[in-house]
Amino acid sequence: MSTASPSVAAAGPSARSGFFRARLASAFGILPLGVWTFFHLWHNLAAFTGAEAWQSAVTEYPHPIAQALTGIVVLLPLVLHAIWGIGRMATSRPNNVRYGFYANLKYLLQRLSAIGVLLFLGAHIWRALLRPRLVEGHAEVFADIAQEIRLNMPTLAVYVLGSLGVAYHLANGAQSFCMGWGVVSSQRGLRRLDGATLVLFLLLLVMAWGAVYALWVAGGPA
Ligand code: HEM
Repeated sequence: MSTASPSVAAAGPSARSGFFRARLASAFGILPLGVWTFFHLWHNLAAFTGAEAWQSAVTEYPHPIAQALTGIVVLLPLVLHAIWGIGRMATSRPNNVRYGFYANLKYLLQRLSAIGVLLFLGAHIWRALLRPRLVEGHAEVFADIAQEIRLNMPTLAVYVLGSLGVAYHLANGAQSFCMGWGVVSSQRGLRRLDGATLVLFLLLLVMAWGAVYALWVAGGPA
């Protein structure tokens, strides 16, 4: 793993704190956010097995403290990562018109997907996590989310596009994490990383769209 470069070490305190903030936000993107997202999608595939299996895999916790801890351990890094990400977007300018390289396109897509993920997570966290618990007094109900996805076209579109954004943002983010932290640096390693990124993107997308499909089917006529 890379440490602060000599130029960063030689820079002033503000450059150093910016560097460490970026490292921290980058680390949060993978752990816990990326890992949790992977398992969240995996758990949602229980929708293929039915209401009880989905309810227990996605909405139930062994203890209220486990639930509160999960909320803090996932939501706090998400908020910190999002604040850092918005700051990065505010200070960076895509240069795709001048440089039409693949890497420049990925840079732009990482930022566009970040905006999509921000909007999607805002709606998803409110509709599926907070509203059922705070307004209706219980966790999201399988039949409710399944019917919402089946009968409400905009909800289906939001889930399909939102999870596409999450799959791209996380897979491409994991790639730049590996490069930024020096996990992979050789030419051969970088080529392999390209393949691994594509596999991760497809895996996340298949899991996410698989879960959406299972919910859509469950929301239809019995
Ligand atoms: C499920 C939620 C999210 C996950 C798993 C996630 C994950 C990641 C990862 C792994 C990276 C790469 C970090 C690196 O280069 O080392 C990244 C980059 C980025 N994220 Fe997120 N992210 C999420 C949500 C968001 C949100 C809501 C925003 C807010 C707008 C955001 C904005 C960004 C930006 C702008 C970058 C690029 C930073 C750069 O390359 O300079 N992310 N994300």
